[in-house]
Amino acid sequence: MNIISRTILHSLRTTNRLYKNPLITAVRYHGEYESKDPKSEDEVVNVVFIKRDGERVPLRGKIGDNLLYLGHRYGVEIEGACEASLACSTCHVYVKEEYLDKLPEPKEEEEDQLDLAPFLKSNSRLGCQVILKKDLEGAEFILPQATRNYYVDGHKPTPH
Ligand code: FES
Repeated sequence: MNIISRTILHSLRTTNRLYKNPLITAVRYHGEYESKDPKSEDEVVNVVFIKRDGERVPLRGKIGDNLLYLGHRYGVEIEGACEASLACSTCHVYVKEEYLDKLPEPKEEEEDQLDLAPFLKSNSRLGCQVILKKDLEGAEFILPQATRNYYVDGHKPTPH
């Protein structure tokens, strides 16, 4: 199966998944909850993005925030072409090793997309699948040198 067919197949699987569970769509894919500030300090999770030029961007997130959308909120250049529907690898990040075990194992769909990501490493994850929790306090996420967008129709969604 070639790359475009594989991407289309993933899009169809994702659509099927969303159709079956519209609640997940509302929570995971629109990113609205990420734009709310934490209600208390107990909810706060501080993480850091490290840009391609080495600049460190501290982010003040909260439990339940999606890393991709939190990055967008702070102006981090992480694309997220498919809006967290697991149909691209443009949200590819490297997770600082000591925090890798604090993340749940990647789903098969995430691993399939990571297989297509350039500069793949053992600590690669998709940023849109990282949901902040308290034990990610201080976690660092490094942007790869480049990402590749296989989005077949050329559509580039704007960040939320
Ligand atoms: S934004 Fe496409 S898989 Fe994360």
